[in-house]
Amino acid sequence: MNTVHAFFILVFIFKLGHFQETDHKWEDFKQRYNKTYYGSHDARRKLAWESNLEKIRRHNEEANKGLHSFYINDNHLSDMTTQTYLQKMVKLTKSRHRKVDPETVGDFFEILHHIPDEVNWVEKGFETPTYNQKDCGSCYAFSIAGVLQAQVFKQTDVLVPLSEQQLVDCSVSTGNYGCGGGSLRNTLKYLDKSGGLMTYIDYPYLARQQRCRFDKNRALVNVTTWAILPARDERALEIAVAKIGPIAVSINASPHTFQLYHSGLYDDVGCSSNVVNHAMLVVGYTRNAWILKNWWGSHWGEKGYMRLRRGKNRCGVANYAAYALV
Ligand SMILES: *[C@@H]1O[C@H](CO)[C@@H](O)[C@H](O)[C@H]1NC(C)=O
Ligand SMILES: *[C@@H]1O[C@H](CO)[C@@H](O)[C@H](O)[C@H]1NC(C)=O
Repeated sequence: MNTVHAFFILVFIFKLGHFQETDHKWEDFKQRYNKTYYGSHDARRKLAWESNLEKIRRHNEEANKGLHSFYINDNHLSDMTTQTYLQKMVKLTKSRHRKVDPETVGDFFEILHHIPDEVNWVEKGFETPTYNQKDCGSCYAFSIAGVLQAQVFKQTDVLVPLSEQQLVDCSVSTGNYGCGGGSLRNTLKYLDKSGGLMTYIDYPYLARQQRCRFDKNRALVNVTTWAILPARDERALEIAVAKIGPIAVSINASPHTFQLYHSGLYDDVGCSSNVVNHAMLVVGYTRNAWILKNWWGSHWGEKGYMRLRRGKNRCGVANYAAYALV
């Protein structure tokens, strides 16, 4: 064997070693997030995952140099291409009309000067577990159930989880699509006429749509009024969060940095305010950030939460925000 042969054999061994190492990590990844893929599907997911790992490496290297205010990381969504992610995870449909309650909104502005610089409902006790909508486009149900749970908490100081599943199963009657998506407005319209929302215990989350099993006699709360805040008005959102409580917002979740968000102040200039396709719950704000709760498990974001740059309507966070009273 001459040196040229030896060289190629060494290169081959090195490549094989590298190959086995990524293969091994891919198996680890699937095991960690409980994923099983077969045949070409496995290869496609692996390719998407490797491409995301490269994006994560580059982004975080830049963040270390101070070029970004946030980090991204490998999570349960990192084996999806942007296209797959958009198809599976962001299913908020358009809310067509705006029902603005001029009286309440007007009240906001009269009390302008009483708004604190920082509000955090989690610190005030609205500390709810990490939720996971799983493979179901139910963000609309989680955000509205969150709004109502917070109102019950404000009145009683008790945390009673409410039924997202009721909203998934039953709000098809006002135009939602179960796990295929829905809008904040259609969900609130459903609650206008439903006769109440049940608790999570009585009507637990299944991550798939079933027949509506709402039982009026076991409803815990009724929505008495609801409204949409003035569009693109972050000041109105701030006042509403301070005075009313956690607020449901629609948001643009499209960028891969959103999909893979890990920690820090999310401020991707590529996160346009022209589209919104996901719903979250604003649970507070700091001087420079909105604090948002998401439903993508504990591996996404800061234990399921995001801090989002305030003051630029980043990701359209103030495009369509809704509150409800119980
Ligand atoms: C993984 O999937 C199995 C079977 O569906 C399930 O029983 C188990 O709870 C899952 N584990 C995790 C960590 O999600
Ligand atoms: C909600 O309102 C409906 C209709 O007014 C009423 O029948 C029902 O008892 C109320 N439920 C609760 C839990 O307040």
